[in-house]
Amino acid sequence: MTNATNHSDALVFFGVTGDLAYKQIFPALQSMIIHGHLDIPVIGVAGRPWSIEQLRAHVHDSLEEHGGVNKDAFDKLGSLLQYVSGDYNDEATYTKIRQALGPAQRPLFYLAIPPSMFGPVVEGLGKSGSADNARVVIEKPFGRDLASAQVLNQVLHSVFPESSIFRIDHYLGKEPVQNVLYFRFANSFLEPIWNRTYIESVQITMAENFGVAGRGKFYEEAGAIRDVVQNHMLQLVALLAMEAPAGNYQEAVRDEKARIFKAMRPIHRSNVVLGQYTGYHHEDGVAPKSTVETFAAVKLYLDTWRWSGVPFFIRAGKNLPETVTEILVEFKTPPLGVFDEIEPPQSNYYRFRLSPDVLISLGARTKVPGESMWGEGVELIVRSHHTDGMPPYERLLGDAMRGDPSLFVREDAVEAAWKVVDPILGKVSPVYRYAQNTWGPSEADRIIERDGGWHNPVLTEPVSVLGPHKHV
Ligand code: BG6
Repeated sequence: MTNATNHSDALVFFGVTGDLAYKQIFPALQSMIIHGHLDIPVIGVAGRPWSIEQLRAHVHDSLEEHGGVNKDAFDKLGSLLQYVSGDYNDEATYTKIRQALGPAQRPLFYLAIPPSMFGPVVEGLGKSGSADNARVVIEKPFGRDLASAQVLNQVLHSVFPESSIFRIDHYLGKEPVQNVLYFRFANSFLEPIWNRTYIESVQITMAENFGVAGRGKFYEEAGAIRDVVQNHMLQLVALLAMEAPAGNYQEAVRDEKARIFKAMRPIHRSNVVLGQYTGYHHEDGVAPKSTVETFAAVKLYLDTWRWSGVPFFIRAGKNLPETVTEILVEFKTPPLGVFDEIEPPQSNYYRFRLSPDVLISLGARTKVPGESMWGEGVELIVRSHHTDGMPPYERLLGDAMRGDPSLFVREDAVEAAWKVVDPILGKVSPVYRYAQNTWGPSEADRIIERDGGWHNPVLTEPVSVLGPHKHV
């Protein structure tokens, strides 16, 4: 339960001179001030020997580049801001942080630092006494595989109880992602058909029409599976596939999500196709012979009564033709071909587009006027709009400060998600080259051929995504 007395009373941000702070956190903090949601000291920590003026100027640049400066809010943020410069391995850094915290009793520590630094920082906070009654937010990737995630959980638990640990997956803070959960359980018409009897397959595409965008060094350590599949994509699968939360207690949703993560079958290496866009080798920070994947396509099964035998396909990649994230839930064909049509064999689907715009639609067929009994694919738009509400980092920072863990990833869920991808990490399959601005290597078709193929999202006005009608 959250109330004013356990609201965090300071924010300490490790890695304040880094990329995440610059692109996401400063704009989120400014926005929180505008909405009256931030009035606590903000202590930035990093290694660079900056003055507070330098940090303020850096924040100003960040806001100018990301959404614009609101003078009053920026002034307020500047007055809340402090800077502690120090080595994360040096005890003196934690003494300085303790001093900067002053009378604060319940700080929120945000660790946006290289994973190798999590251990020393958590230990430093524990030893200096700053961790008592505190919360900690951990950026993804949470570990590199199951074993390292387990070690990381142990390190965190040596200082913080699970209820004080907030593992971020910013996808969970996205409004359209929450809408998937809402739409499923706020409507009664879905439930009778939301199962193996009616659903043929589910496919999720997360396409980005840009490359590693200056993050080559990070990406070399990650690759698409660790960067977005183990977390963002499996979270979407969980929201689509979980059972309805039972009971109205705080952990109800996370309990159901953990159950579905545990029911995901570890992905077999024959069900993964990896790709790398041409030119990746020339990105800054990328090894000349790197075999890191910038594209991954996987087939996943869930061993539950509801989903047995229904394949979930996931495809994520950089330098594809569009920037779009879309879920397509395809229903089975009618039991009998009453009409003469043979194409497309499947016409019924639900589509959830999560970005760049928000769309929920239902694909159906209607008859084309005329003497023949043949038709065309149409879409019934349930919801379509262009903005997607409060940016995820603002939402999640606010939740963490209030101590609400609902949109954060619990220990058992994060470990279960690693178990799913563990068998496909490392050099388990070839990495196929694909040209930029294409939908990845053609080899990716192999895992989905028998299930109707990939449906590339179309960002024009909604038409049936299963293609134009044909008839014989
Ligand atoms: C991040 C990944 O977690 O998510 C990036 O590290 C990816 O590689 C990004 O581009 C996508 O998130 P969004 O919210 O920009 O669609």
